[in-house]
Amino acid sequence: MLDDAFGQVTRILADPPSVHPTTAGNPGDPPDGVWRTEQACYEFMAQHCPPGTRTLETGLGVSTALFALWQCDHTCITPSPQEKEHLSAYLESRGIDASSLRIELGLSQFVLPTLNRTPLDLVFIDGCHGFPVPIIDWFYTSQRLRAGGIVVLDNLNAPSVRLGLLDFLQADPRWNLLSHGSWWAAWQRQTSHPLHEDWITQPFLGPLTATWEVTI
Ligand SMILES: C[S@@+](CC[C@H](N)C(=O)[O-])C[C@H]1O[C@@H](n2cnc3c(N)ncnc32)[C@H](O)[C@@H]1O
Repeated sequence: MLDDAFGQVTRILADPPSVHPTTAGNPGDPPDGVWRTEQACYEFMAQHCPPGTRTLETGLGVSTALFALWQCDHTCITPSPQEKEHLSAYLESRGIDASSLRIELGLSQFVLPTLNRTPLDLVFIDGCHGFPVPIIDWFYTSQRLRAGGIVVLDNLNAPSVRLGLLDFLQADPRWNLLSHGSWWAAWQRQTSHPLHEDWITQPFLGPLTATWEVTI
């Protein structure tokens, strides 16, 4: 079973969906026309996504093809109609059933608050990488994770992704680091507490001080 899931990752990475626009000669363009993360990250998610897993990701790419292949009950958010069209054509041409895939068009920071807050098992945050969008994505998706659910953050090598969020997840004992690579990490939510709690319930961040200390 695990071999199958890992084999599916290898298969999609060998023939990825070219969904991200490229400009001739632009050194910043992704290889094969699609941005991607480390193979180990996809393999980690493969292990936690049996058919019917309730998943949501911000951004679209290789991961979206995999969530469809794994037959997850999946929501993907991207602002790009072209990405949606290219992925749909790719899935159809490869005979991958997309009936459990929903692609919401728009910026995640505006789309996420409008979605029904149904429970989720796994969330993959890999959309806009500029602060504060990753932390907004985390807030609106992770509050829907059931106890035991998993959030995977990509591009933690970017300070704009780490800022605030990494400190918090490392400090809060209700988030348990499960696995990580060079760019990504996965945490398991231990409880289903609300994420909008007041500071008094977050003693793990340290006590109040008499004044705030800052060097200007
Ligand atoms: C790095 S790529 C995603 C790669 C993909 N997760 C994979 O594994 O192949 C980033 C994606 O985020 C999308 N994006 C950019 N800004 C966004 C936003 N504000 N909300 C949602 N998606 C966004 C881009 O259009 C692109 O599809």
